[in-house]
Amino acid sequence: MKHLLTIGQLTTKEISEIFALTKKLKYEQHIRRKHHYLKGRTLGMIFSKSSTRTRVSFETGMFQLGGHPLFLSSNDIQLGRGESIKDTAKVLSRYVDGIMIRTYEQSDIEALAEHGNIPVINALTDLYHPCQILADLYTVKETFGTIKGLKMAYVGDGNNIANSLLLGCTKTGMNLSIATPFGYECDLQTIKQAKEFANISGSIINISNDPIKAVANADAFYTDTWTSMGMEDEKEKRIADFKGYQVDELLMSKANDSAIFLHCLPAYRGYEVSKEVIDGPQSKVFDEAENRLHVQKAIMVKLMGER
Ligand code: CP
Ligand code: NVA
Repeated sequence: MKHLLTIGQLTTKEISEIFALTKKLKYEQHIRRKHHYLKGRTLGMIFSKSSTRTRVSFETGMFQLGGHPLFLSSNDIQLGRGESIKDTAKVLSRYVDGIMIRTYEQSDIEALAEHGNIPVINALTDLYHPCQILADLYTVKETFGTIKGLKMAYVGDGNNIANSLLLGCTKTGMNLSIATPFGYECDLQTIKQAKEFANISGSIINISNDPIKAVANADAFYTDTWTSMGMEDEKEKRIADFKGYQVDELLMSKANDSAIFLHCLPAYRGYEVSKEVIDGPQSKVFDEAENRLHVQKAIMVKLMGER
């Protein structure tokens, strides 16, 4: 593992290793055993979009690992004034030991990885959100003891979350049914890649515009905001276009009784999910949010620790 730009570049073995290390780090954190695997290391964290979970979990995680996190809002660094990605990558490589970046274009983080010589972690682009989906799959594993052969149902926008779910589920052998409204389908290249991974892992993927069909016999339910960061101008149109795609108790009742509800958060109750579902007994959203911390610590140790 050199970078984490997309789940597509991880092997199934690497994902298993991340999860094994996550379990250890989570346990050690819960019993407050010191685990300074990144002592003396620094992580630069570039944010071109807002964040609660990602910022706090990476910053706290780096501290818990004995390292130092640097919050770099793109408004405050020269990148926001037009300094190139290439120069930013070369300069930061002289100071820090890794870069975590949240931005718009996937090609920007690829350029950062290409021109720098330190690990780059994708903390969300318009296309992917790999750290989130690894934490989600870890939550599935923690709940059911396994991932392979279970079924995830995603209802909503075919966005960064849905695209990364396609890659994450098919890498780990989880079946996945996605239902998006017309015009909000997942990235075609990613679907193609996921089908290739599914041929190897045995995952069954189903993509449609029918939420009821998607959720039948699901073990985990997932949705995300209808209006992602950067799409705010389309909010009203999206609310109209996503009518019928809310995850509510009726839709939830079509899944297995033991099904869990997941959401990357932030959530908008009354839109993509009803409050009865997200605040109900099947919801795992806060365990899921906590797992961001533990999974990302494992990712940082793998990428930035001693080799
Ligand atoms: N789920 C997630 O990435 O949350 P933030 O936008 O708050 O970081
Ligand atoms: N799809 C959402 C995820 C937020 C964590 C967005 O991009 O805003």
